[in-house]
Amino acid sequence: MNITVTRKLAQRLIEAQGVALSGQQLADDFGISRTAVWKHIKELEEQGYQIISVKKKGYILAGLPDTLEPTAIQAILKTKRLGRSIHYIESCPSTQIIAHQLAQENTSDGTVVMTEEQTAGRGRMARRWHSAANKGIWMSVILRPDVVPQKAPQFTLVAAVAVVRAIEQVTGLKPEIKWPNDILLNGKKCTGILTELQSDADGIQALIIGIGLNVNQVADDFDPEVQNIATSLKMESGKEIDRKELVSSMLQFLEQYTDLYIEEGFGILKLLWESYSSTIGHPVRARMAKETLEGIAESITDEGVLQLRTADGKLHGIYSADIEMTS
Ligand code: BTN
Repeated sequence: MNITVTRKLAQRLIEAQGVALSGQQLADDFGISRTAVWKHIKELEEQGYQIISVKKKGYILAGLPDTLEPTAIQAILKTKRLGRSIHYIESCPSTQIIAHQLAQENTSDGTVVMTEEQTAGRGRMARRWHSAANKGIWMSVILRPDVVPQKAPQFTLVAAVAVVRAIEQVTGLKPEIKWPNDILLNGKKCTGILTELQSDADGIQALIIGIGLNVNQVADDFDPEVQNIATSLKMESGKEIDRKELVSSMLQFLEQYTDLYIEEGFGILKLLWESYSSTIGHPVRARMAKETLEGIAESITDEGVLQLRTADGKLHGIYSADIEMTS
């Protein structure tokens, strides 16, 4: 079975928006027999596409599968650049690794790497990221912003705002951001963001924003070691969530907010970030590589640095840490 023809056929059915496509016409267009068209239709049905066959009229698409294949996402995507090119792999060690390779090969701004399963997903601070097959969104977005390297750290906070807005829009849930960019629901983590940079003497070559979003897992899908700190959108909403809708919404907000950041600076986005923050104004413990500090998380600076005031009145700038709420 020619997979490219199957994909192209899916795209034609999606683009037809509920209008019947004649089997003969499809056969002529793809240069194959009507029986071959029928076999591709059966293949799509096996993948979860709902296709109605109407006598003398042809094939009508009645429903899309829960897949993150480019055709399914791009059929609903409203962005200009982000996700216009999607590299989709059924399974891979980590989308970050592939995105780094693509970024070195001059792939275009907005390219997305998407997979159904990661076998060696990477988290912040060299941790492992659990990425169950077909249950979450594991993707890396390659951006090539024309900004000075000092403006890079805020992109990760901008990405967190884009993700919470998308979760709210698609599910109605009320996520919070734990500094810098963990996304929590009822105090448990549902999303992690890992931003990596490729730069040289000329400045930023690429920003690679890796997003791991737990969507349709149930408790048993998580490794025992993270079961009491992780959650999924399904566990919190009680509903199966359409992953394509979430990807489309995230990419739309990410495009809108990164453009806003590049054009207008961090001001409005900082306010938005703070409005979703579970950290600001609260007593926290910040565990860093060499020391642990306790105090009140007062604010973030325009550079995204957390301002922590300890009991002795001193204000500390925290650049990277694990944050725990202490009350
Ligand atoms: C964190 O530690 O909170 C960040 C987790 C980031 C996970 C995502 S999943 C897609 C991309 N590929 C990876 O290997 N990691 C990121």
